Amino acid sequence: MAELLEEQRESWGTRGGFILAAIGSAVGLGNLWGFPYKLYSYGGGAFLIPYIIALFLVGIPIMILEFSIGHYTQRAAPDAFKRGHKRFEMVGWWGIVLAFVIITYYPVILAYCFSFLWYSIVGIFTGGELPWAGEGIEGVENAKHFFNETYLGKTDGPSLGSIRWNIVWPLIITWAAMYFCIFKGVKLVGKIVWLTVPLPWLMLLILTIRGLTLEGSMQGLAYYLDPVWSELAKPITWRYAFGQVFFSLSLAYGVMITYASFLHKKSDINNNASIISIADFATSFVAGLAVFATLGGMAYVTQLGDNPVAVEQVAETGPSLAFVAFPYALAQLPYSAWFSFIFFFALVTLGVDSAFSMTESILASIVDKTGWRRCIVLPVMTVVGFLFGLIYITQGGFNWLGTIDGFVNGTWGIAFMGLLECVVLGWLWRIKTLRRHANSHSDWKLGPWWDYSIRMVIPVVLGALFFWQLFDDIFGDGFLRTPEGEWILPNCVGLSIVALVPVVAVVLSLIRGRKDIVEQEHPEQNLPIGGRREGAIAFITASIIAVLLILWLTVPISETIKQVILWLLLLGGIFAMLLSNHVLDKHHTSTSQASWLARWAGIIATMDISASIAIILLGLVKAEEAEVTTAPIRDTLSGVSYIILAVVFLIIIGGLGWCFYRALAAGKDSGIQHPDEIGD
Ligand code: PFF
Repeated sequence: MAELLEEQRESWGTRGGFILAAIGSAVGLGNLWGFPYKLYSYGGGAFLIPYIIALFLVGIPIMILEFSIGHYTQRAAPDAFKRGHKRFEMVGWWGIVLAFVIITYYPVILAYCFSFLWYSIVGIFTGGELPWAGEGIEGVENAKHFFNETYLGKTDGPSLGSIRWNIVWPLIITWAAMYFCIFKGVKLVGKIVWLTVPLPWLMLLILTIRGLTLEGSMQGLAYYLDPVWSELAKPITWRYAFGQVFFSLSLAYGVMITYASFLHKKSDINNNASIISIADFATSFVAGLAVFATLGGMAYVTQLGDNPVAVEQVAETGPSLAFVAFPYALAQLPYSAWFSFIFFFALVTLGVDSAFSMTESILASIVDKTGWRRCIVLPVMTVVGFLFGLIYITQGGFNWLGTIDGFVNGTWGIAFMGLLECVVLGWLWRIKTLRRHANSHSDWKLGPWWDYSIRMVIPVVLGALFFWQLFDDIFGDGFLRTPEGEWILPNCVGLSIVALVPVVAVVLSLIRGRKDIVEQEHPEQNLPIGGRREGAIAFITASIIAVLLILWLTVPISETIKQVILWLLLLGGIFAMLLSNHVLDKHHTSTSQASWLARWAGIIATMDISASIAIILLGLVKAEEAEVTTAPIRDTLSGVSYIILAVVFLIIIGGLGWCFYRALAAGKDSGIQHPDEIGD
């Protein structure tokens, strides 16, 4: 496997600089804008179960994986993957192209935040009146009207309409801010994040304390935390939870690989990844407390007057929560313009470092590959990103933004990319080398369980979610065409974009790169191959199961026989996967390499298992759907919610406490030196 590149790469100033930059990327609009409304819409406190499972099962292990490969190779995603095999370069580009799609619309949401920040400042100077203010339920309509009509000029249907010139300026400001944050390289980024990370946390703290001390805040928290257990039986809840973990931790877009590539050689990996992931979760959770406590305060105030408004009447606005429900709630409370300023300032500072992390990752990938100068590539990217952004600031742009975000951040885009990353690194690379590398640079060590989770557990979970969505879309009605046979344009475009991403990735990987980087040798390629026979058995078994699964889906036979066959196929898949895993464990040593048949058999077998589980889940959920969803009691926080609160705080405080304790202990006695200690 490739050695660390000897070439001197730019590096973060300090450990703190790197941690904050990675937190800055992770903690963004997804936390304050996305998490609260998703949690509210998909089961309240119950949503935390899939979310926490996703965080610990998939989020933290993949973040460690991305840090290890970035740090090990000291290269941005495409080149980092290429170190394993030249054909893997396209996997790196896949994530980068997805990041490019996001960078076309993420700054648009930031531009909305800049506009609302401006309205709040004007409000402060003009006596506290906000342009969306209004009373009672008509006030809610006012706020909706202000955002949808006055600001977005929104039209229904797929046509784009004309550009909204009022959003052009904020979009220019957003891109300019991103440009100036990164134009000097990561050293400057490492300094800027000392401002853009703590500042929004301070704002959030103010909003949370203010929200929790409002009369009626418990009413809002009941909506946020009271669990609706039946939501757990819906695939969409799980898909959103996993998708949100990926998006929120900035995983699978190559960002964390790129950031880790600038990390000093002697930096910690495992502990940093855990601190960053838990801090991100803490921010999301506290953001939700702030938002819903304030909505509760609003409900209480309006209930004192003639025009009562319940939390659910405003919270149902979904993605518009940050631009309709919350601004409306603030407008009902004292010092509305000031708190509105604090809220949008928090959003802007949260979002800007996430946005530039994507730009940095794309930029580093291009620069690493071509050797072109940053000072030329960055302005070009800025202009191109801005021009694409114009599509989303048309009258129909907001609807398109939602659709494309759904595809890119959903199962079709990001979960699939995460799956690909794990199978390539788990089965085709030598994952043990990455684990050893991570461990030799960490305050605490990973066990072999990590190899198995990257190789088997995560691909099976993500694969099951992927197939679940796929079967749901294919067999459900109205995905690409209405029952009347008309094409559903937004879904067709969304699907085409995610389908085009790998094509673009392949093309980019085929372009010849710079000549001054010497291709690394792969010494293990010359090692003798072991486990050919077991590999062939596993490969044949896994392939036959794949064919049988396709037949299972298409050939009509009796239900009972089908069920028996399905479970047999699942068992067969598990056998093939474990056999392949055994071959890799036994033959990936310093003196031999595992047969490629076994490696590919592992991948096919994990997909067999995922597909079988997805089919089983599909059947189970259909049976569940008949059940009636019972609405939780909404006016006080239930006992279960207090337990949920306690568990979440325990996870956050216990998790972070343990990580910091390990960092301190390791600093004292393990001999790991951090960049801060050794200087630059
Ligand atoms: N993690 C960011 C958020 O939660 O808003 C969004 C994001 C940043 C996604 C960087 C992807 C990425 F590469």
